[in-house]
Amino acid sequence: MEEKRPVWTSRYTFILAAIGSAVGLGNIWRFPYIMGQYGGAVFLLVYLLLIVTICFIPLFAELTVGKITKKECIGAFESVNPKFKILGFLNPLTGILISSFYFIVGGWIVYYIYISLTNVHIVNYSEYFSDFTQNSIPACICTLTFLFSCIYFTARGVKKGIEFANNVLMPLFAVIMIGLIIFSLQLPNAHLGLEYMFKPDFSKLDSQMFLAALGQALFTLSIGMGALLTYGSYISEDKSIAKTTYTIIFSDTIFALLSGIMIFPAIFSFGLEPNSGAGLVFVTLPHIFSQIPYGNVVSCAFFILLLAAAVTSGISILEVPVASISERLKMTRAKACYWVFLVIAAIAIPATLSFGALSEFKILNKSIFDFLDFSTSNVLMPLNAFFICIVAGWFLKIKGEMFIKNKYIAKLFDFGLKFAAPFVLLFLLIIGLN
Ligand code: PFF
Repeated sequence: MEEKRPVWTSRYTFILAAIGSAVGLGNIWRFPYIMGQYGGAVFLLVYLLLIVTICFIPLFAELTVGKITKKECIGAFESVNPKFKILGFLNPLTGILISSFYFIVGGWIVYYIYISLTNVHIVNYSEYFSDFTQNSIPACICTLTFLFSCIYFTARGVKKGIEFANNVLMPLFAVIMIGLIIFSLQLPNAHLGLEYMFKPDFSKLDSQMFLAALGQALFTLSIGMGALLTYGSYISEDKSIAKTTYTIIFSDTIFALLSGIMIFPAIFSFGLEPNSGAGLVFVTLPHIFSQIPYGNVVSCAFFILLLAAAVTSGISILEVPVASISERLKMTRAKACYWVFLVIAAIAIPATLSFGALSEFKILNKSIFDFLDFSTSNVLMPLNAFFICIVAGWFLKIKGEMFIKNKYIAKLFDFGLKFAAPFVLLFLLIIGLN
């Protein structure tokens, strides 16, 4: 049975959902640890530079293609040229692969909320984290719990599910974050963390940093898998996409900076290293929480914050394959969710087991989890972002003058959409493959 195409209730709910998609694990989990690995403030400068010069272009293109075509990803590409249908397929495929590792990290958050609530006594946080990820059954249960929570909202539809989740979770997220920042800034030597974030050491600048910053920018802005294209396709009236683009970029950057301000002062205050990688949030921070009064309350608040951010992004990732399946195959949203759940679970379970029972199984010399991360962040997302710029600039002939008053800036935008952004994205893709 075919369902009516949904539309957002208002501009506010659309923007909130788009911000909800962008602000997620990429801001609170990935941004601080990548910044920690690449030397702090100087990485931040490179990252900001790339966002304002390159990344806003594919973001804008995704929203515009969605808004103009009013179709899910496959249909959107197909309506520009039937030969591009295959390019559209890459988006839900990327969504399914991203979700398979995104939901694993979501599962870790679920588990950490559980241990914060039950006040489990932990001696060595690093060992504890690796024991948990290697322990197949609890890890799989957590992955599936998180996946189920997100798909529940997606199945309820755009208004009752996606808008509702964002309306409740985003304010909750903001309130908890402000509380944790105030707490963190009052710790002794908090200023060392701020110096690390804002005082650049240019000797740390290198080419790898540019790649890492561009990859992080695409991931955190939800560019390159059609989530914003799909959200853009639910816009009803003639809303300004340019303003929406700035709002998403501005909010996402503010939330990434705030996560740094929440995390780095605490790390420096306890004399710990900021470069501990992906475990920063699951090993270093819990270690800090265990040493402060009411640590389990702070820990619980932190992981609920992370969960809220991850759910609103997870919902947007699921929306891409769900919208494609339900609209293409004329299936109800609930049925499409059921199939998407099964497919993602079938990939996410082996990926969860790749830390334990399936750790010996490798694809291109990588564990299943690492392969999914690599193939999406380094290959599929830049590739999809490249295609959306080409389609929007060369085939849909979107021009800067349609939305920018200043004709020089409009021309600069045209150059960015047709040449600069595709070139940089392709460059990233080629380098990332080596
Ligand atoms: N932007 C999200 C985050 O920062 O966690 C992740 C994400 C969501 C990536 C949606 C891609 C996407 F389409």
